[in-house]
Amino acid sequence: MKRSILRIAILGAMLMSTLPSRGTAAASGTAKKSFGKTPEGEAVELYTLTNKNGVEASISTYGGAVVSLKVPDLHGTFEDIVLGYDSVDGYVSDKSYFGALIGRYGNRIGHAQFSLDGNTYTLAKNNGQNSLHGGIKGFNKVVWTAKEIPAKDGQALELTYASKDGEEGFPGNLNVTVVYTLTDSNELKIEYSATTDKKTVVNLTNHSYFNLVGVGLGSGDILKHVLMIEADKFTPVDAGLIPTGELRAVAGTPFDFRKPTAIGARIDANDEQIKLGGGYDHNFVLRRKPGDGLALAARVTEPTSGRIMEVWTTEPGVQFYTGNFLDGSARGKGGVAYAKRAAFCLETQHFPDSPNQPKFPSVVLSPGARYHTTTVYKFSTQKGREVTIHKSPSH
Ligand code: GLA
Repeated sequence: MKRSILRIAILGAMLMSTLPSRGTAAASGTAKKSFGKTPEGEAVELYTLTNKNGVEASISTYGGAVVSLKVPDLHGTFEDIVLGYDSVDGYVSDKSYFGALIGRYGNRIGHAQFSLDGNTYTLAKNNGQNSLHGGIKGFNKVVWTAKEIPAKDGQALELTYASKDGEEGFPGNLNVTVVYTLTDSNELKIEYSATTDKKTVVNLTNHSYFNLVGVGLGSGDILKHVLMIEADKFTPVDAGLIPTGELRAVAGTPFDFRKPTAIGARIDANDEQIKLGGGYDHNFVLRRKPGDGLALAARVTEPTSGRIMEVWTTEPGVQFYTGNFLDGSARGKGGVAYAKRAAFCLETQHFPDSPNQPKFPSVVLSPGARYHTTTVYKFSTQKGREVTIHKSPSH
């Protein structure tokens, strides 16, 4: 008797572990809990958005960071696919910008300086001679005000931050709103908007690091992930990773991802630009026409899990970064050490150093105008390496 009960229990457990968890019992909604306090004693919250398929995105009010993102594989098994930390303390000491909102200026401004209407603005040099990701205390190191807001097609969280005139050297009081929406079509949509009271420069992005196998112990590197980028050109850089101003054709270079190619296929190529970046750390010029709206920028396929991530954006560029500066010293969620190339980033943006590059699309925001950009990370699954074009995300 006992033995047969045991057998049934074992069979049941086996069956459960093979059953897809997709669609089971996941109640959609938004939950909120404490994520700790900043060293100054400010309370930080963690919001968890769950959609009707059980996909989950957790967002911290500190840095507006995406702390975890759980999406299913081919068999319906959910894994967290973004690097991050277990509590706010990790984000306070973080130097890698895991999951964070980046501003006022995503990526580098050469010599930490730019001019607008004859006025020269000097920023903090927090990356060699240059300014990186908004300065010493960028938008990734501030506490945002959060509000759950209604969404037609999922769960939405609105974050706001008022950046003061002169903050980190940038002119103008800038009011920033970022809305994260987790849709029922398994998209994480990020809408950025801002207004200013004085002419300034703005370039907002999100710095999530993805590993589509999952980010737990033993996930390994991202070299076998297959990437396609909708770009015929990229912006080559100098030794300080500042664009030279050239828009160079990707054809015949390791930067040609027009056809799906493994990230690792040419990452150690004997190529000047690859060497300067220590791998990929470059802005790609997206193939788009004015008025295109939200367009496909990149698609990443992970062959073993079957997870696919598409990036759609209204932005003209995307920074493809392969975690070259990760060295295992950052201990993330569950104490996992994040090694070099444990994850990749696709940071949608205007081009680095645009304030000093008259030929690049403008990043100037004037009083009375509204900065507004949208980026969507869309998740799906498919067997094998073959990928088809998916329909445009809901927006
Ligand atoms: C961006 C930069 C990289 C690096 C990372 C953060 O992707 O281009 O050089 O600074 O952010 O570590």
